[in-house]
Amino acid sequence: MTEQEQHERLMQRTLELARTGFIKIAPDPFRGALLAQGDQIVGEGYMANRNDLAPELHALKAAGDKARGATLYLNLEPAFGARNGINIVEAIIGAGVARVIVAMRDPNLNASGRSLRALEQAGIETACGVLEAEALQLNEIYVKDMRTRRPFVNLLTCMSLDGKTATPMGDSDGLISSASRDFVHTLRARYDAVLMGVNAILEEDPQLNCKVLRGCDPWRVIVDSQARTPTLAKIFLRSDPDEPRPPVLIAISYGAHEEHLRSLRHAGAEILHCPDEDSSSPQVDLSRLMQLLHKRGITSVLIEGGATIKAAALQSGIVDKVSFIVAPKIIGGQEAKSPVGGEGAMIIPEALPITQMQSRPLGSDLLIEGYLA
Ligand SMILES: NC(=O)c1ccc[n+]([C@@H]2O[C@H](COP(=O)([O-])OP(=O)(O)OC[C@H]3O[C@@H](n4cnc5c(N)ncnc54)[C@H](OP(=O)(O)O)[C@@H]3O)[C@@H](O)[C@H]2O)c1
Repeated sequence: MTEQEQHERLMQRTLELARTGFIKIAPDPFRGALLAQGDQIVGEGYMANRNDLAPELHALKAAGDKARGATLYLNLEPAFGARNGINIVEAIIGAGVARVIVAMRDPNLNASGRSLRALEQAGIETACGVLEAEALQLNEIYVKDMRTRRPFVNLLTCMSLDGKTATPMGDSDGLISSASRDFVHTLRARYDAVLMGVNAILEEDPQLNCKVLRGCDPWRVIVDSQARTPTLAKIFLRSDPDEPRPPVLIAISYGAHEEHLRSLRHAGAEILHCPDEDSSSPQVDLSRLMQLLHKRGITSVLIEGGATIKAAALQSGIVDKVSFIVAPKIIGGQEAKSPVGGEGAMIIPEALPITQMQSRPLGSDLLIEGYLA
């Protein structure tokens, strides 16, 4: 095995550690740490919850004296400065670590490169960029948050092999496998908010809660220009009865009746005014909505439906990633629903290109993911 292959093997393990521990840590990034003497792992660390120690400190503690002269692998540059009274860079220097290899720098421009420079000034050799693409993908939500101050948006679709989301009668029950349903709930646990158009709420009345162990319900964001969401909709139900209020945000434009807004607030919804001031459209301005959601502390949004809102989201340029779950079933029928509505492309060069496509099985289904170019 070459030295580069050894670094990649140990960084792969570091990325696995970063993924371990807990489902949702936003706005904090996933971090893992591994200490090795040559190819021997002498300490590992990850964060078990948001209040846990930094993974570097867990790895240093696990390694003890073996940290001296070791190489520290990190998927992300260490945090700069002290946190809860502990300075991680100083801890690494104090333990006598000889070399620090990171997959990527901190995308936070105020911090980027600062910890690496401090380590170099203390005589520690540093290197950056091992499995960088994987590390960037692992922390895609954090990277978008730091670089653009907008939420990372993933458009999720469940469809049949022939690209239909439901039968002409609107039935989609049992379309996807139980492994896919678990995956959807894991996404809901990972993302801060789930977004839907109001028609999907009126027609399907989903609860949009999260059934993953230790996962908490995401914010439910309903795009609903005229506030047609019923106050008895299931989105107002809480998975955890101890939660003080159901996490519902209703994005409205012009034309919503004040009386109904009052009822929605009474039911627990928060109302966000997002009219499109730059056009004559009476509908919600999705870019503005993303701005307001980020101000509200929401760094990631999962768009679950329906076809109209998905088309509008893709057209407005807010979507970063698409996740398509494809079930091995053929629904057929001219009238059966497809995942993305709107006018669509007239010629193929107008079709939206998707890059970095990846696929993997989910039970009997196939998950296909990619990024908007
Ligand atoms: N299998 C799946 O993955 C899946 C998931 C979810 C839903 N569904 C299906 O999707 C169907 C509903 O889809 P749909 O296409 O009829 O409607 P939709 O996407 O659920 O909702 C569209 C509505 O959102 C409102 N809206 C507000 N601002 C908007 C904007 N800027 N752009 C676009 N819409 C905006 C509009 O109503 P206002 O003008 O009143 O605001 C619009 O009519 C349901 O039957 C459900 O079964 C399938």
